[in-house]
Amino acid sequence: MEKLLEVEHLTKVFTLGSLLSRIRIRAVDDVSFYIRPAEIFTLAGESGCGKTTIARIILGFEEPTAGTITYSGKRDAKNKKVWFTEGIQAIFQDPFGTFNPLRMVERYFFETIRNYRLARNQEEAIRLIDEKLKAVGLSYEEVSCKYPSEFSGGQLQRISIARALLTDPKLLVADEPVSMVDASLRMSVVNLFKKLKEEMGVSVLYITHDLATAYYVSDRIAIMFRGNIVEMGPVEKVLIRPLHPYTRLLRESIPEADPRQRWDKKITLTETEYQEYLRVGCKFAGRCPDVMEICRKEMPGYVEVDGVLVRCYKYFPS
Ligand SMILES: Nc1ncnc2c1ncn2[C@@H]1O[C@H](COP(=O)(O)OP(=O)(O)OP(=O)(O)O)[C@@H](O)[C@H]1O
Ligand SMILES: [Mg+2]
Repeated sequence: MEKLLEVEHLTKVFTLGSLLSRIRIRAVDDVSFYIRPAEIFTLAGESGCGKTTIARIILGFEEPTAGTITYSGKRDAKNKKVWFTEGIQAIFQDPFGTFNPLRMVERYFFETIRNYRLARNQEEAIRLIDEKLKAVGLSYEEVSCKYPSEFSGGQLQRISIARALLTDPKLLVADEPVSMVDASLRMSVVNLFKKLKEEMGVSVLYITHDLATAYYVSDRIAIMFRGNIVEMGPVEKVLIRPLHPYTRLLRESIPEADPRQRWDKKITLTETEYQEYLRVGCKFAGRCPDVMEICRKEMPGYVEVDGVLVRCYKYFPS
């Protein structure tokens, strides 16, 4: 089976707190998954479970504490910039933050074309921009000479996807791409991922709080809790018949992403969160309705149940 991206045993430890009360948390704890060519893979889980940290490591913005990332057969943390320009593009949460309000949006396209030498002249550049905008349901004519404020959040997000497509990427890393888009327009943006996958063979790492859109577009999904993947498999299995008690809980109530939270936000953890990070055994044990004695002693490994990987003692043969 061909793998476009493979993440193996990825771990990221952050040190928080003051000198006197330092705490090290494993924001990402031994995470492994892969993404196939032309596949939409979703990472879901509540706030703080480590989704953005994984995205940032894949994009080369952050160094992992341990683990490896292999893209298109090339391993190594050191050449990430190369993969990035070659085939991985990022779509960010805030479309309004992506574009400077005082610059016409088309200038971003021309800039990318210049940086990557994608066209020989103005005419060729416009043809390329128009082609990519048409792939997202817009056109050069509709965008030309306009400023970000003249578009809706959904349109701007489609424009940033079109711009990402300029370099013909194989993988889009989309971190909460619709959490700041009007609920009524979310589907139109997410639908695009499906279309790009089907028509251009693009893969997407879709990071979201929104299980409804995840269910609709993903091929496979991984559910994270406190830095661990607790359940992973085909989306219709994981979301329709969840195995892990956390996935069940999540399906009932998943809080929206807080759009004010940024990467540079001041990091604070609640007492419960601290305790969960420090917990020996399954980190979900304190909240789990099905908790057993053994859960508090040691973190379970993975067990495969009907094509789904789950980390829960309930499914271990006794
Ligand atoms: N630069 C940093 N320094 C210290 N701790 C960090 C840093 N970035 C993230 N963390 C911590 O790592 C954990 C994972 O954060 P991350 O942003 O990856 O979560 P997330 O799943 O993307 O959450 P959200 O859904 O809110 O975006 C959190 O406890 C967070 O506080
Ligand atoms: Mg995040």
